Amino acid sequence: MPMSTIGIIGAGEVGSQIGRAAVASGYEVVIANSRGPETLKGLIVELGPSARAATAAETAEAGDFVVVAVPLKLGNDMPVKQLAGKIVLDTNNYMPWRDGHFPVIDTGEKTVHELRQEQLPTSKVAKAFTHIQAPRLFISARPAGTADRHALSVSSNYPKAVERVTQLYDQFGFDTVDNSPLSESWRSGPGQPAWMAHAHQTKTELIANLAKAELPNPV
Ligand SMILES: NC(=O)c1ccc[n+]([C@@H]2O[C@H](COP(=O)([O-])OP(=O)(O)OC[C@H]3O[C@@H](n4cnc5c(N)ncnc54)[C@H](OP(=O)(O)O)[C@@H]3O)[C@@H](O)[C@H]2O)c1
Repeated sequence: MPMSTIGIIGAGEVGSQIGRAAVASGYEVVIANSRGPETLKGLIVELGPSARAATAAETAEAGDFVVVAVPLKLGNDMPVKQLAGKIVLDTNNYMPWRDGHFPVIDTGEKTVHELRQEQLPTSKVAKAFTHIQAPRLFISARPAGTADRHALSVSSNYPKAVERVTQLYDQFGFDTVDNSPLSESWRSGPGQPAWMAHAHQTKTELIANLAKAELPNPV
């Protein structure tokens, strides 16, 4: 049976690490950055024969589902047409010092992931992998059933996307806490207890930390 293919748009710290974890879990990987596939030769050699580099549009097209590991910009820079109908995992964290202030987020009117969903109206967006540092995708991974297994949250307006992320987390070595819909995703945002405890939290601890979150988002 052919392995499913993960498209990864963004080949920086977190995109490349998700690529490594995906290859280790038996997925085919197609990965893109902004500068073009020829700039990803070293990473592709490292990832091996189940990975290839492509443009962002080709990556979106190739993925059975697609990870977007790119900071959100107000000017939409994602391939909307090629992502249509697909589950899209958004790893973005709202970092005003890096990306500038977005007033609708600062006032608590919308979450950054609702903005991504608005930019990709024909996709099923899920917030995923946002409160784990990239190296910990391997360091913190544990087999299912391990007593203190690390847990990660997912938020989406689509149950199918939550299911997809839950399966992927489990394959990578993590439990899942469903913090849906996207309007609730601020609870795991930068500065909140769930985000601050990123080094390790079990499912029970993550549920408690999400409940402790307070608006306005203190970023
Ligand atoms: N680093 C972590 O541990 C971590 C953990 C969880 C969540 N996050 C969040 O995940 C996001 C990515 O973080 P990162 O640390 O991986 O960032 P990063 O190292 O700066 O990488 C960003 C990647 O996005 C690519 N990119 C930018 N615009 C693009 C476009 N229009 N099309 C295709 N690719 C594009 C860049 O390509 P070029 O280099 O070619 O421009 C680069 O490969 C951020 O929002 C971050 O807050 C990071």
